[in-house]
Amino acid sequence: MCGIIGYIGTQRAAPLIIDGLKNLEYRGYDSAGIAVLQTSELFVKKDTGKIAEVFSEKDLETIEGNIGIAHSRWATHGGVTKENSHPHLSNDGNTAVVHNGIIENYQELRKFLTENGFVFKSQTDTEVIPNLIQYFMQQGTSFMDSIKLAVKKLEGSYALAIINKNAKKLVAIRKESPLVIGVADHGYFVASDVPSFLDQTKKVVYLYENDMAVLNDKMEFFNIKDNLPVVRKIDNIEWNVEQAKKGNFEHFMLKEISEQADAIKLAISQDEKQIKEVADAIMHAKGIYFVACGTSYHACLSASYKFAKLANKHVNVALASEFPNYKDFIVPDSLVIALSQSGETADVLEAVKAAKEKGARVISLVNVVGSSLTRYSDETLMQNAGPEICVLATKSYTSQLAILTLLAYALAGKYEEGKNKLKELVNSIYYLTSTNTREHIKQLAERLRYVNHIYLIGRDLQYPTAMEAALKIKEVSYIHAEGFAGGELKHGTIALIEPGTPCIVFTSSENEKKILSNATELKARGAYIIGVGPNNNELFDFFIKVRESGEANSICQIIPIQILAYQLAILRGCDPDKPRNLAKSVTVK
Ligand code: M6R
Repeated sequence: MCGIIGYIGTQRAAPLIIDGLKNLEYRGYDSAGIAVLQTSELFVKKDTGKIAEVFSEKDLETIEGNIGIAHSRWATHGGVTKENSHPHLSNDGNTAVVHNGIIENYQELRKFLTENGFVFKSQTDTEVIPNLIQYFMQQGTSFMDSIKLAVKKLEGSYALAIINKNAKKLVAIRKESPLVIGVADHGYFVASDVPSFLDQTKKVVYLYENDMAVLNDKMEFFNIKDNLPVVRKIDNIEWNVEQAKKGNFEHFMLKEISEQADAIKLAISQDEKQIKEVADAIMHAKGIYFVACGTSYHACLSASYKFAKLANKHVNVALASEFPNYKDFIVPDSLVIALSQSGETADVLEAVKAAKEKGARVISLVNVVGSSLTRYSDETLMQNAGPEICVLATKSYTSQLAILTLLAYALAGKYEEGKNKLKELVNSIYYLTSTNTREHIKQLAERLRYVNHIYLIGRDLQYPTAMEAALKIKEVSYIHAEGFAGGELKHGTIALIEPGTPCIVFTSSENEKKILSNATELKARGAYIIGVGPNNNELFDFFIKVRESGEANSICQIIPIQILAYQLAILRGCDPDKPRNLAKSVTVK
């Protein structure tokens, strides 16, 4: 998704914001740009391509000015072109805007502005914003009041950073799109995400819905709806710059895969009282709905099996984007449990808002402190997995699974047993992420690097694992992969199995016979079978041993496939941290 960074202070803005932009690269982007306020004009440079290609070393050294905004664009409205890159300027060139989100009524506004003599240079929705500001300024309204009037006309979601050639201030506004202020000794930052400025300051102010921050030598906050001042407190970020950097690892993906044992340790040091309270809420709710997207959705599916098996509790699981279909069943006694690593996924926020309108209680499981979902929820369990920079969810997934396992045990009145079970996993996870395991899986990656399709099967708790494993392979290596319930393949997809088709089979002691019988069906059609589980078998052409751990199999068995996906990406020349077309926080619906 688009990344925003802005700076106002005593230092040169360009190196700080270009650096900040690089720290946001993980969000995914296709073009980049900056606008810096110089003595009598706005200096603008933008283009398509990587940040390092758009800005040279010379730019870093020579662009003067202490106030600036920058943007990395992930195209939504209009193709990937220089003209569509941000910042966008007003027709008079006085106001520059960077935007994350979507202006839903931009066509109407564009028509209105065109009728009033404005000319548009891009196909973006964003360009209406600086021009609306100019429109109001032309009526004699001040810069600040024009911003407020312009924003009142916008429908949709927006995080905005705005500067004007004649104003020594940086204005930031958020509505349904994340924005955070960094408070440094030498000035203020505004950014989509904390890692952007973390090497400059760990002091942050999270903006709330409809907040406007006005930054110059001080910071002031207003609510854009009623224009009244609001007080926002400074928080301290607890993780450090190193955690958000690659360290000795070549990629964030590998670093984060390797951090999973520690993430599990942190997950199980959850506040016991809070876990038990959430378990109690689940126990007494009339209708429980787990909602999420992508990998977090797979964690929800896994949870539904754990709750059924361990606590005899039925829960509904819905993709957040499909949640409107359940809306009519939501009543004030319903409980919605929303999972989101980023806490900013637009579909999840939308689902949660719909549930709240019906009076339901919302509990969320989130990794990013201060994210929007934490504010929309009645209560939040924090994952504490540390920053996850790679677009692919790895440690955040296993950390979600650990907390959900703990919750299922708590619901069954066996909290301590659950905690001990998870503690026992830690050593297995160290082993699964070790160089030995990685070397073993590398042989498999070499074998699979040129294949076009991989099928994955699992039964019970291994079924969501098969789905998640397929997603990991797809999104980073671009090999088509599909996860199925073991019993389901024979109902159609088995037609695609040819001699040599790779099929990954997740096994567990509980369902070994049944899943091996499904593997036999595949083997009979010539499939190349890769077994992942506690016991090797003559059916397997390749075997990855993962110690049996019952309900916690879901946590351990995904790890080898995360590693396989990583290695396939490397062998196929794909960038594991920044897969094409994807974004870390999907803030559009
Ligand atoms: O931040 P969230 O957990 O809400 O994100 C949900 C999905 O966008 C995310 O899991 C996505 O599927 C990842 N690319 C998975 O690796």
